[in-house]
Amino acid sequence: PSVNFHAADGSVETIEIEVGDSVMRGARDNMVEGIEADCGGVCACATCHIYIAPDWLERVGPAGADESEMLDCVNDPRPNSRLSCQIAMTDDLEGLTVFLPESQR
Ligand code: FES
Repeated sequence: PSVNFHAADGSVETIEIEVGDSVMRGARDNMVEGIEADCGGVCACATCHIYIAPDWLERVGPAGADESEMLDCVNDPRPNSRLSCQIAMTDDLEGLTVFLPESQR
């Protein structure tokens, strides 16, 4: 399934992410700029922060408890903030649209 990454400068990159891989892993494998992911995907760094497009929020679902706690420390948290390492790709997420924050810290 493909995911559209909107950078803070307005540019858009669409990449394919395999089912079961996290959105963070797909972004890193494809060199999408703006996702640092220092902890490698174990919900411990919060540098994989993204914003989910409002019309995708329901399908993506809410953050888990650990993730919500980490989201308290990101730059400019919003109600549609998620950590991209905690979103596993599914066929249902084909066309998912996310926005990258201006910076991860
Ligand atoms: Fe560290 Fe997501 S990669 S919290």
